[in-house]
Amino acid sequence: MPNSNTEAEQFEKIRTKVFPSSETAVRELASIVANVIRQRQSEDRRVVLGLATGSTPVKLYRELIRLHRKEGLSFQNVVTFNLDEYYGLPPNHPESYRHFMEVQLFEHVDIPRQNVHVPDGMVPRPEVYAYCQEYESRIREAGGLDVQILGIGRTGHIGFNEPGSGPDSRTRLVTLDRLTRRDAARDFRGEANVPGNAITMGVGTILQARELALLAWGESKAAILRAAIEVQQTDTVPA
Ligand code: PGA
Repeated sequence: MPNSNTEAEQFEKIRTKVFPSSETAVRELASIVANVIRQRQSEDRRVVLGLATGSTPVKLYRELIRLHRKEGLSFQNVVTFNLDEYYGLPPNHPESYRHFMEVQLFEHVDIPRQNVHVPDGMVPRPEVYAYCQEYESRIREAGGLDVQILGIGRTGHIGFNEPGSGPDSRTRLVTLDRLTRRDAARDFRGEANVPGNAITMGVGTILQARELALLAWGESKAAILRAAIEVQQTDTVPA
């Protein structure tokens, strides 16, 4: 039946793997990432990782830190670009994604600081457009994203690409969805304190990565995962 063919193609496009636990999943992904890093090291080349924040990738970063400490995995040849940052938060704000990355990964591994890129949430408004263009060109100059790590928000966002973000969208200033702000309210001690805007890589930027891994844990993500994986592609579910 034509319908089931379409569905089968959808499944083909987004390969889905179900694990007994998030620990098992991150061990497998960390080992894939570690292998790419080591492979590039043996070729004397750099590897470009696209990184995500939120609760989802925390265990992955813990496993990468463990590999660094216990198995000698070096990040000297690693270049990173983070997906997004709250607009208006300085880098040392406890809820900024720059701060998150420092605490969850960067300060525990030997990555050279000049290799690390997180969008700057403090760029003055008139300069935001040029800043976003520059973020894009830095990714290009680094050779493009080799592996992109993603979470998914309950709105279906990847990065902060909320519903309505098209497949060609690029790095830009966006308005956060109400549900996203509500989900962040606890971290900010109230929805009113959650920034209304963010700078995010676009869906188009993300899709240019050579490999992508989208992680999602737990029942609260089940409905939006189904919409992302099994239902016809639409801008209302950016993932
Ligand atoms: P979470 O957020 O990892 O905290 O669930 C995911 C996201 O919003 O992309």
